[in-house]
Amino acid sequence: MKYQLVRIGSGIPGLDGMTQGGLPFPSTILVAGPAGTGKTTLGLQFLAQGARDGETGLFISTLSESIQWMLRFTSNLTFLKKEYFGQQIVYDDFSGLIKQAKDYRDVLHALEEKLTTLMPQRVVIDSVTVFERFKDDYRDLLYDFSVLLKDVQATTILTGEVDPTEPYPVEVAHVVDSVLLLTSSLTTEGGRNRHLEVLKMRGTNHVTGRHLMAIDRNGITVQVGMG
Ligand SMILES: Nc1ncnc2c1ncn2[C@@H]1O[C@H](COP(=O)(O)OP(=O)(O)OP(=O)(O)O)[C@@H](O)[C@H]1O
Ligand SMILES: [Mg+2]
Repeated sequence: MKYQLVRIGSGIPGLDGMTQGGLPFPSTILVAGPAGTGKTTLGLQFLAQGARDGETGLFISTLSESIQWMLRFTSNLTFLKKEYFGQQIVYDDFSGLIKQAKDYRDVLHALEEKLTTLMPQRVVIDSVTVFERFKDDYRDLLYDFSVLLKDVQATTILTGEVDPTEPYPVEVAHVVDSVLLLTSSLTTEGGRNRHLEVLKMRGTNHVTGRHLMAIDRNGITVQVGMG
């Protein structure tokens, strides 16, 4: 019997065409990049697409960003209606819990409880690299999180911050099904180009190499074929 991979719309114009029609469902996806490359925007666009499709989304901030802060920050984005929050998109700030937790399993259980109660089809954890504070347990933590996320019927985006010399957090890349890289490069005129690359996507063919992308009030748009 041929196994049919289910895909869901990413919400990012251009991206679904690079991945044979959308993001695998269920699966885990690392979106990695240096500061300001569009990781949070991509996650929000992904959840907004789910909201439009009648799905439930969960946004977990690990970065001490309150819902009020997020609403202010996103108020001029055209794709994100503020009515989504509390309805199709549930927002939760895990930063306090992460700071206080003596054991990463406390955070794991809190996430498990959220997932069991809400049963979201789309999840964003922004960002996963914050968990590096659990130092010696970091690899065990990533493994346990990936096992939990594999058990749920959801596509999960984990964002990962890197400094510009490091392309992606390797420990996270190993435990996820897909890796999207967001980068930027200086132009000869001193401007900056933004790029998106699908580094890996388990179970599907995808376009390789980096492609130009833009960010404006409508979110990210990928210009496939333009490097
Ligand atoms: N409404 C907007 N209009 C135009 N450009 C925007 C808008 N929102 C965001 N941007 C641009 O997109 C960039 C990336 O934003 P975003 O917060 O998604 O990046 P990030 O990778 O999550 O950053 P960080 O690592 O700091 O969390 C911003 O720095 C800004 O240049
Ligand atoms: Mg961000």
